Amino acid sequence: MCPPRFFAVDYVINPWMDPTQPVSADVAVAQWTELRDTYRRLGHTVEEIEPQPGLPDMVFAANSGTVVDGRVLGSRFRAPQRAAEAEHFRRWFVEHGYRDITMPEKINEAEGDFAWTGTLLLAGTGFRTDPAAHAEAQEVLGVPVVSLQLVDPRYYHLDTALFVLAEATDTTRAQIVYYPEAFSAGSRRVLERVFPDAVLATSEDAECFGLNGVSDGRNVVLPVEATRLGELLAARGYEPVYVDISELRKAGGGPKCCTLEIRKG
Ligand code: ARG
Repeated sequence: MCPPRFFAVDYVINPWMDPTQPVSADVAVAQWTELRDTYRRLGHTVEEIEPQPGLPDMVFAANSGTVVDGRVLGSRFRAPQRAAEAEHFRRWFVEHGYRDITMPEKINEAEGDFAWTGTLLLAGTGFRTDPAAHAEAQEVLGVPVVSLQLVDPRYYHLDTALFVLAEATDTTRAQIVYYPEAFSAGSRRVLERVFPDAVLATSEDAECFGLNGVSDGRNVVLPVEATRLGELLAARGYEPVYVDISELRKAGGGPKCCTLEIRKG
């Protein structure tokens, strides 16, 4: 995770960003700190990277790496304003002992568009990550990739429209939740076929960034507004844990965007 000390909304690269609205880096830091402490309270290890001036979106660490079994696939941003973030994260991985690191050739916004189910890498495209980056990820990480087409600009990254509730080593047992309307008709059919028991979210869940949740298989960290989704997940045996991310949402981000998950393998 990356503390948002230099957080700002200075440019527009998604429909949530409005530079004429006031934003506070202090409020962002306070909300981010609460998110980090929530993970720690739930028993997870959180490592931090030093934020950099001039990179206001660096708080969205999920966009900077995909790690499966200790193998790191870095990122390549579509927006020039974010391009420099990739190298800071690459260096973090090098300095923290990761040896198997590949930087992608294709536009690749990492966990923003990639979700690991335990056997499959679900991969979004349409707004950010290049479809050719899906094949590249499959080759580099050695995992099967399922390409999904995003169609609503408000849900420009896969992690704004879908997340994994519980990973499983048996493909059909992984649990996911998604907002169907964010996907093309064909991609919806793919999701129905592979995950017939998925939890289906509504526009209300999606609009408050409820699909930007982080689950450890039991606890599901959600934006505080996502109570409808939280109740649905509670009925399925999950434990919703709410955090206020209203300041970070002004840049189009939520809990998951702030969280790059390291799977050591
Ligand atoms: N302002 C950032 C952007 O548009 C927000 C990124 C949110 N991250 C995410 N994983 N969805 O790139």
